[in-house]
Amino acid sequence: MSAKDTPILITKNLQKTFFMKKGKDDVRAVKGVSLEVQKGQIFGFLGPNGAGKTTTLQMLTTVLAPTSGQATVVGFDLLKDPKKIRQHIGYVSQAGGADGMTDALQNLILQARLYGASKSEAEKRAKELIEQFEISEFATRKVISYSGGQRRRLDLALGVAHKPQLIFLDEPTTGLDPQSRAHFWDEIRKIRDDGVTIFLTTHYLDEADNLCDYLAIIDNGTVVAEGTPKHLKDQIGGESIVIGIENSKDLEKGKELLVKEKFVNKIYTNENKLYVYVKEGEKLLADVLRLMDNKKVSFQTIGLSKPSLDDVFLQKTGRSLREGGES
Ligand SMILES: Nc1ncnc2c1ncn2[C@@H]1O[C@H](COP(=O)(O)OP(=O)(O)OP(=O)(O)O)[C@@H](O)[C@H]1O
Ligand SMILES: [Mg+2]
Repeated sequence: MSAKDTPILITKNLQKTFFMKKGKDDVRAVKGVSLEVQKGQIFGFLGPNGAGKTTTLQMLTTVLAPTSGQATVVGFDLLKDPKKIRQHIGYVSQAGGADGMTDALQNLILQARLYGASKSEAEKRAKELIEQFEISEFATRKVISYSGGQRRRLDLALGVAHKPQLIFLDEPTTGLDPQSRAHFWDEIRKIRDDGVTIFLTTHYLDEADNLCDYLAIIDNGTVVAEGTPKHLKDQIGGESIVIGIENSKDLEKGKELLVKEKFVNKIYTNENKLYVYVKEGEKLLADVLRLMDNKKVSFQTIGLSKPSLDDVFLQKTGRSLREGGES
């Protein structure tokens, strides 16, 4: 992975507005997204429901026309060369693309043939993919009978059937149980290690943190932060002491009390919680407890939390991704 290479994907101020009929407000789904994706990365687009992830992906895969802005995908201009882009990318939509009424083998053969392989080449490629993605056990069963994890593996195999340079995965693990998700992450890493660049969307914090090499966090059509997961978490300014306070007056009182303390780097309230960012949480926990006790601020829970991507999202948007999302 060399950052010196030309990025495999570049967008400049990409925008999409859905113009609605008279009387209804237009929807500004993507409000000017500028990104660079380096070759060989797993690039993650992290954001809550409705943030504009799918809309961005659909523009980059030539499914939707942008309202304005520019993009270069696998070296081709999005507006001038959409056909060339389609030859070199793969796209697995949120719903997946397999035909449920036939089996994995036939789906894979058809996919390879769609991209110009001869019958025997297509059969050979289908067999390779069945082996690579451990599909053989159910390869000749109808797709509608598959478990969620089996289905997603087939979707992934379909997405890489024509050996694309770049593959887009829209929420690849939504709805999978933790074990299937971990297994699926390994499949995605294998594809990356074979030299394919991956652009995926997710609203799972652990997926963004553990799987992605680089992240752009999107909210409300705008990228609010980007960097490696580590870089993003390092910006937080230490650990957070999280204090659960049900009474809103006590919540405010607690905030006013602690914001004055020198050891507090940043402080936020969200829902019924007070987030106090400090350098050395363990040492300061007792001090915080004493301060709250002295001023009779009542609270229900207190705990220490290592910096997470949720803290990044909270600092940038004032909301928690964990509580707002479905995960
Ligand atoms: N065809 C459309 N017409 C009008 N509005 C749309 C259309 N498609 C999407 N939107 C709106 O654009 C916004 C962004 O939607 P998008 O599907 O890109 O979000 P997302 O980040 O993929 O969300 P999710 O995590 O739920 O899949 C939402 O407010 C959505 O309702
Ligand atoms: Mg979506």
